[in-house]
Amino acid sequence: MLQSSGSFCSFRRLFVVFFATIFLWILYHQCVTFHLFGSSAPSINAVIAATTTGNYEWAYRLKIPKLVVIPYIANDPSAQYHPPSNKGNEAMIYLSYITAFYDNLPDISIFAHDSENAWHNDIIFGQNLTDTIHSLDLEEVERRGYVNLKVDWQGGCPQWINSSITIDSPNYSELRSEEIYVREMFQNMFPGHDVPEIFGGPCCSQFAATRAAIQKLPKQWYQDRIDWILNTDLPDYISGRLFERMWAYMWIGTANDCPIEYKALCRVFHICFNDQEELDEWNGAAYLSEKGTRDAWADRVTNNHIDDRTEHAVGEMGPWLKRGKDEAVKRGRSKYYRWKIAGDL
Ligand SMILES: *[C@@H]1O[C@H](CO)[C@@H](O)[C@H](O)[C@H]1NC(C)=O
Ligand SMILES: *[C@@H]1O[C@H](CO)[C@@H](O)[C@H](O)[C@H]1NC(C)=O
Ligand SMILES: *[C@@H]1O[C@H](CO)[C@@H](O)[C@H](O)[C@H]1NC(C)=O
Repeated sequence: MLQSSGSFCSFRRLFVVFFATIFLWILYHQCVTFHLFGSSAPSINAVIAATTTGNYEWAYRLKIPKLVVIPYIANDPSAQYHPPSNKGNEAMIYLSYITAFYDNLPDISIFAHDSENAWHNDIIFGQNLTDTIHSLDLEEVERRGYVNLKVDWQGGCPQWINSSITIDSPNYSELRSEEIYVREMFQNMFPGHDVPEIFGGPCCSQFAATRAAIQKLPKQWYQDRIDWILNTDLPDYISGRLFERMWAYMWIGTANDCPIEYKALCRVFHICFNDQEELDEWNGAAYLSEKGTRDAWADRVTNNHIDDRTEHAVGEMGPWLKRGKDEAVKRGRSKYYRWKIAGDL
């Protein structure tokens, strides 16, 4: 008798614990959902460096809560947002935005060019800026203060600019025509700071930065940079690129900001290959596949020739590429995995 009443009690206890657990589980998930999509989602501006011929409609289709598109039109002084002069390429636009919005910045500002598809974007995203931004981990932007939208090292890493190079150096190359101006530019921007020997970072001047990072420097400082662009005799591609080398130093104090590619891709964009070799292999195949498709198509158009072997090889590669990326995306869903594989960048 006693025994059976005892087991009845423990059954009831189990029952209570069971429902309490379910209740807490639901509560927890409500909180997580609320945190992600509720009032605490960061406010974001997408600052688009555009020209009158550019098409930035894609930016309005971005599916990110609280994102506001701020298009700056370089060559249209009558546009709502425009720089004081069409000089200095995207650098002038980003600086104009910063001075105009300085006291009213959102949590995160994303700085980008107007074209959705360009070599400025990584091949893992099909060079598609929409897909790149959709994968961007906003918490990671908040944590780091500044992240480049490009992961690939080509044309900027692991070391790109040597601030000691002069026009007479044997190592001077027109490929880096801004290199010889970097030292003076840096000294002008940061009087009293030691000039770093090496500057670098993934190319192409598209990145995200937090309000706190941008406001590390006073508004007048940015205004002085605009004045510098207005007064310089350097051509736009050089003045613009000089700034491209400086953003990371301005905002996170790192002159050579070249995180290992597979780690950055994992941590910042949640696509986790197991190591650099695996990512290199995937990128190489994706490049070949794209090139193969293009060549086969050109061959068909110009020579009316169908190269079965190329088409076949490219056809085989498609599923392999898809599987590789799908698996990397799946691994990237795990925060534990992202932290374990990538650590701090
Ligand atoms: C880029 O990706 C978005 C979202 O996946 C897609 O809607 C768009 O068509 C793509 N753009 C191009 C030019 O491929
Ligand atoms: C940078 O350039 C200077 C002068 O040419 C050279 O002495 C130095 O070794 C270079 N540094 C690197 C890291 O290549
Ligand atoms: C030239 O560049 C090479 C490769 O980056 C470097 O090892 C070397 O130190 C440089 N030499 C000078 C004189 O800067």
